[in-house]
Amino acid sequence: MKETVVSGIRSTGKLHLGNYYGALKNFVQMQHDYNCFFFIADLHSLTTHPTPSDLHGNVKQVLVEYLACGIDPELSTIYIQSDVPEVAELYLYLNMNAYMGELERSASFKDKVRANPDNVNAGLLTYPVLMAADILIHKATKVPVGKDQEQHLEMARTFGNRFNRLYNNDYFPEPYAFSYATSLVKVPGLDGKGKMGKSEGEGNVINLSDDPEVIRKKVMRAVSDGGPTVENQPKPEAIQNLFDLMKVVSAPDTLAHFEGLYNQCAIRYGDFKKQLAEDMIMATAPIRERIQAIAADEAYLSKVAGIGREKGRESALKTIRDVRELVGIKSF
Ligand code: ADP
Ligand code: TRP
Repeated sequence: MKETVVSGIRSTGKLHLGNYYGALKNFVQMQHDYNCFFFIADLHSLTTHPTPSDLHGNVKQVLVEYLACGIDPELSTIYIQSDVPEVAELYLYLNMNAYMGELERSASFKDKVRANPDNVNAGLLTYPVLMAADILIHKATKVPVGKDQEQHLEMARTFGNRFNRLYNNDYFPEPYAFSYATSLVKVPGLDGKGKMGKSEGEGNVINLSDDPEVIRKKVMRAVSDGGPTVENQPKPEAIQNLFDLMKVVSAPDTLAHFEGLYNQCAIRYGDFKKQLAEDMIMATAPIRERIQAIAADEAYLSKVAGIGREKGRESALKTIRDVRELVGIKSF
């Protein structure tokens, strides 16, 4: 029996290089080796109150980009989270044993509270519980995600194990974050600090759908500094981030070439950024072309979503029937 894989991305708009190298690239590879479920987390995106029209458009965008990246609906189950209501039911059961204190201590919750103090809603607090339900509903053991999701996986294991203890069984297996890379990936952004992420602003991210001209402009504006003045000096964060981005998209000898120039204080950031932008354009070109073609094919998209809904629900229903029985919920 193949191990089961689950992962999803929130439908908050266009996908970027961080999503691709942190998550999607693994999705595409994993579908050949595992029983894969990839979904679009539209319920999770409700924490930030999108308008109804934005919500649907964003779901379509992510679906198109999943397909453009190479997720194959013949190999994987691709579905929209809200199309599988059993997930929301499992979320409810898990919520009964998720404690306020542990939810408030989650790093991503604290970040969100800091960023949006006026919108600290219960959905935000229980975000990791819904994520645990997404994973446990298919009894998955492997979850391809970027480094920032590691703590959420730990919480998913906690909630699954707690359910098992409470009902005295070993129903849910333990899910772990997964990457084919040697460790979980963190792709830096262009603003000189931290990871690439949608909430950090459009100038900080390179979207998979960005035109070459847009990519060039964003990279040329990326934060750098006056350049090294002492040979082999350590790199400040903004410069290290650009090198880390080059490591992701460029050939190893290109990276080595610019490392060498940096160490000899002979690097010209203009040339360095130009090369980085061209390599980003090359890495995203095939995806960008497919995005346009797939987005135009509404009939194909609704067929894919329909098949995914069926397959996703079939698997979820099996679990929810067992869970109801374990919890003691019975119909008369
Ligand atoms: P964002 O941070 O832009 O809102 P999401 O939180 O929706 O993106 O992330 C979806 C997936 O992409 C998750 O698996 C997450 O770990 C991964 N991911 C997002 N940004 C990065 C990044 N900068 N580096 C690595 N992985 C990332
Ligand atoms: N929390 C993830 C993110 O912000 C998205 C997500 C929701 C997810 N449910 C999941 C990822 C289940 C993996 C498995 O990126």
